[in-house]
Amino acid sequence: MDILSIESSCDETAAAVVRDGREIISSVVATQIEEHRLYGGVVPEIASRRHCESISTVVSEALAKADMKAADVDAVAVTFAPGLIGALLVGVNFAKGLAYSLGKPLIPVHHIRGHIAANYLAHPELSPPYMCLVASGGHSLIVEVLGYTEFNIIGKTIDDAAGEAFDKSARVMGFPYPGGKFIDDAAKLGDPAKYPLPKPKTAAPYDFSFSGLKTAVINLVHNSEQKGIKIDTDSLAASFQKTVSEIMTDKFISAAEERGCKKIALSGGVAANSGLRTALSEAAEKRGMTLYFPPVSLCGDNAAMIGCQAYYEFLAGHIACEDLNAYATMRLDEVTY
Ligand code: KG4
Ligand code: ZN
Repeated sequence: MDILSIESSCDETAAAVVRDGREIISSVVATQIEEHRLYGGVVPEIASRRHCESISTVVSEALAKADMKAADVDAVAVTFAPGLIGALLVGVNFAKGLAYSLGKPLIPVHHIRGHIAANYLAHPELSPPYMCLVASGGHSLIVEVLGYTEFNIIGKTIDDAAGEAFDKSARVMGFPYPGGKFIDDAAKLGDPAKYPLPKPKTAAPYDFSFSGLKTAVINLVHNSEQKGIKIDTDSLAASFQKTVSEIMTDKFISAAEERGCKKIALSGGVAANSGLRTALSEAAEKRGMTLYFPPVSLCGDNAAMIGCQAYYEFLAGHIACEDLNAYATMRLDEVTY
């Protein structure tokens, strides 16, 4: 089954053709990052406008790269939640029109379910049940993946998401938006023990809290500036990355151990982080757990992961009508459309 999938939940307009949920036939991602960088973050209105301008071309390109015509695909899938509402609506309306005109099923996909599914594209042997740590710009979750469309949330962030903490800390360190990748690069040159940073506590053991850590970085930079002390940015990046990686690794591994789970996965934009990948790999190896993570190209937003999840949503009978709407927020374990 060939699914044409569309993703427009934030600042990437993407389209892909995915075969039977596991094989990428084509994948096109048009990023708007350069424009949003001028403002230090994503400007929702600009994002919607750029999606409108590029969606047609991006979908045509995905079909051309797959050597297919729209009529050749078996279904159209689209990210319908969560995300920036104006941005989501562009993808949803385009997909609705296309599915209707082709007379093909329309499959609604939850963005975070898509991030989780990215691992299926990279690891043919991976199947539920397993546990997944999702770390993206807007979400930090520890999830039990009970089935392809069945999830149990064990932990979540009570304030900032991991990616948000990376980006806001990066900004005060002087890096461009989005700063996660810049922290990752700088951390390789720094001393991770130079600036000890706090590990915020949470009432629920597997919840995350990153806002205190972010504030500690901001205060450290501001206090140093006031005293005329030059910050060693590489070492601050290394210290920050080590602290986030340790927090996420400790909680995720404990949650997996508590459930006797030996199969674990990492996904989302922050899954590209080399410090987090290394910390988790080492912890998993020590405990005899098998860890899966996607290649960097499938960590950030893309439509291939949406096409992959769409296949399993289709098999579960999750097909939308022409009145499909977009939603800015929606839990991944309570999907309605
Ligand atoms: O999953 P994603 O593409 O978008 C959302 O669904 O939110 O995640 C984007 C986030 C940004 O915060 C970005 O800074 C972060 O992923 N990110 C990284 C790295 N690459 C991207 N964070 C840390 N290290 C990286 N190498
Ligand atoms: Zn995402």
